[in-house]
Amino acid sequence: MKKLGNAIKGVTCFIGALLVIGHVLDVMIQWLEHARFWRIRKQKQELRAAKKQAGHDATARRRVAIITGASSGLGAAYAKQVAAWHRKYDVSEIWLVARRIDRLEAVAQHIDLPVQILAIDLTDDADLDILRSELRQEREVDPNFQVSMLINCAGYGIAGASTKLGYQAEKKMIELNDRAAVAMTDMVIPYMKIGGRILEICSIASFRPIPFFNAYASTKAFLYHYSRGLRIELMGKGISVTAVCPYWIHDTEFVGNGDGFHFPKLSSSADSVVKWSLRDAKLDRALSTPNIVSKGMYLMKNLVPTTIMEYFMVLMRVAER
Ligand SMILES: NC(=O)c1ccc[n+]([C@@H]2O[C@H](COP(=O)([O-])OP(=O)(O)OC[C@H]3O[C@@H](n4cnc5c(N)ncnc54)[C@H](OP(=O)(O)O)[C@@H]3O)[C@@H](O)[C@H]2O)c1
Repeated sequence: MKKLGNAIKGVTCFIGALLVIGHVLDVMIQWLEHARFWRIRKQKQELRAAKKQAGHDATARRRVAIITGASSGLGAAYAKQVAAWHRKYDVSEIWLVARRIDRLEAVAQHIDLPVQILAIDLTDDADLDILRSELRQEREVDPNFQVSMLINCAGYGIAGASTKLGYQAEKKMIELNDRAAVAMTDMVIPYMKIGGRILEICSIASFRPIPFFNAYASTKAFLYHYSRGLRIELMGKGISVTAVCPYWIHDTEFVGNGDGFHFPKLSSSADSVVKWSLRDAKLDRALSTPNIVSKGMYLMKNLVPTTIMEYFMVLMRVAER
């Protein structure tokens, strides 16, 4: 019995030590990454100062922020806050992308910078080609044209058992949440330079499988992993990628008016998610968890086994209803 007790103690200490070492290393690596980005950005500033001295006007460069899903919710809030803090984010112009042109025009009214409205369906390849050729033309006219920020916000989710939703509904989520986000990212990277920032709007749903919200959670899991991997690939170019993982946001159209959904008390406002995630992106963080619940869920992701989390997610959904 004593031997068994000692064995359990030993295993517990070993797992505990692994967790502690893992998390200490995690923090150290994040600091090293910050140092790397800081050095790259400093070089950029020096280059800019040298150009300025040589008579080039750096402010004449067009630096665009492209925001998808900008007709409502988070996307509209990003558009307004990026415009308000445009110097901080090195932006001189904003492109708003979504399908509803009237809603995009309404958002544009709040922006005190040049705005381009692109009313396109991101799941349609022909529409994506319009954006692609728009970028190409801009670069042909102005070789200094660049995209300094891409915020992939367009997204959509339907809850329900996979067997009930059916393939078409699941396909629609995959096409917008993943395929369109990857298409946009691939399209824009060639127009980014040192200091470029990409924000991929994922969700806490990306942390673990969520039965009965399965396809949506899986699309967000893809986007989360894609963002984290891409960040490492682009680090050498001085372009940062931040995976934004919010908890419920109570003032967007995501849930719509349907099914009497009651938002939990700790849900966020779009403005606060945008504020905290922009701050995280400015600090070149790999991950933004812009709410106390999303921070807690991320911690649990790293500490609690998947099987337990799967059932916890079901309980949370029941509690939220
Ligand atoms: N709200 C939440 O609780 C929550 C929590 C975590 C993560 N998120 C994520 O946050 C992101 C933004 O959601 P939100 O809460 O702001 O919801 P929202 O208000 O419904 O915004 C979704 C946006 O996506 C656009 N969109 C939808 N289909 C499109 C298409 N085929 N082509 C182009 N644009 C399209 C919509 O514009 P049009 O209809 O005009 O095209 C709208 O601007 C999503 O990725 C969502 O998964 C939301």
